[in-house]
Amino acid sequence: MKMPAAGAMLCSSMLVFFILSTSPLTADGAAKCNKSDKQALLAVSIALNGNKPFPAWTDEIPCCEWSGVDCDPNLGNGRVTGLHIFADASISGSIPSAVADLPFLSVLVFHKLPNLVGSVPPSIIRLTRLSLLELSWNSLSGPVPSFLSRISSLTFLGLAFNQFSGEIPPELSLLQNLGALHLDRNQLTGPIPASFGSFRKSSPPDLYLSHNNLSGEIPLELGTPEWGIIDLSRNWLTGDATVLFGSAKPTTQIDLSRNRFAFDLSRVSFPVNLTLLDLSHNMISGSIPVQINRVSSLVGFNVSYNRLCGEIPSGPVTGRYGQDVYFHNKCLCGSPLPACRKK
Ligand SMILES: *[C@@H]1O[C@H](CO)[C@@H](O)[C@H](O)[C@H]1NC(C)=O
Ligand SMILES: *[C@@H]1O[C@H](CO)[C@@H](O)[C@H](O)[C@H]1NC(C)=O
Ligand SMILES: *[C@@H]1O[C@H](CO)[C@@H](O)[C@H](O)[C@H]1NC(C)=O
Ligand SMILES: *[C@@H]1O[C@H](CO)[C@@H](O)[C@H](O)[C@H]1NC(C)=O
Repeated sequence: MKMPAAGAMLCSSMLVFFILSTSPLTADGAAKCNKSDKQALLAVSIALNGNKPFPAWTDEIPCCEWSGVDCDPNLGNGRVTGLHIFADASISGSIPSAVADLPFLSVLVFHKLPNLVGSVPPSIIRLTRLSLLELSWNSLSGPVPSFLSRISSLTFLGLAFNQFSGEIPPELSLLQNLGALHLDRNQLTGPIPASFGSFRKSSPPDLYLSHNNLSGEIPLELGTPEWGIIDLSRNWLTGDATVLFGSAKPTTQIDLSRNRFAFDLSRVSFPVNLTLLDLSHNMISGSIPVQINRVSSLVGFNVSYNRLCGEIPSGPVTGRYGQDVYFHNKCLCGSPLPACRKK
């Protein structure tokens, strides 16, 4: 075999070196990063970090590998699909409108940022692929924006633990792909919109409205969707919540505790797959239906602080609980409370 000329050898070893040093960037689609997405990410970080990019987001690392950034390897062209910024008290300011310059974003999370203030930028409706929007445990304020209803791709909307105020925008029910809606732990006022009865009947979102200042009667329309989880606890809601019940409903959790609901519990049959039923601290009257003892998966149960009366129907379910889930009613009696007085 002929020895290759020195020049050719140098050339081929340079070529090998060149291939080795660049292949990790070009072969792996996620490793390179679209320039326009990188610019948008830098603008987001500069807005949140006192006019400097996050220190960990350096030019040496492709932006798809920056902490908190995801690119979908299946897209193969270095487009940013996920942004997670969380648990950082040094971040301050409001949600930068530059997030809307990440057109392939499907997951956007700003979570536990105590100094994140202001509201949600309207530009966010440009994110037509956005599926999960989680903006919880921050200090966001102002009304819950009705324009969120225009991001029809949303499957999860989480605005819990902020200082949002004003009424719940009825338009949110236009989000027909939602699997969960978290508006809990804000300062929302006014009624539950009747439009919430027009969420998809067979697969409405799990609905979390607890710890607000909602008031008014529960709309009749709320009885139409077959809720999986409905948590209305700790508000000022009134009226007849019997529409939420029915043994054929697939509901697993109903929490109405600490409201001002007033209805006759005797008229109710419980969804058979309930695991949580908290009715405590209301003005509910009547007696506990015998059918409760067929709700065999029930774990969390509480009817204390109401106006119930009559004998607790003894059985496998009611027998699981101590006095504290039954006490402070008008005239409930029987085990585990004191025996009913003979008539
Ligand atoms: C990067 O994004 C821009 C703006 O969306 C787009 O025009 C461009 O084609 C993308 N580049 C690549 C290599 O995908
Ligand atoms: C919530 O509503 C109650 C009763 O309407 C009122 O007394 C209270 O001040 C309200 N709280 C807030 C934070 O708005
Ligand atoms: C209760 O759960 C069982 C088991 O998952 C299911 O087959 C049944 O359809 C559920 N019942 C209702 C009323 O949703
Ligand atoms: C039921 O609710 C009452 C009133 O809020 C509370 O004191 C009691 O501890 C609760 N019991 C259970 C088991 O959650």
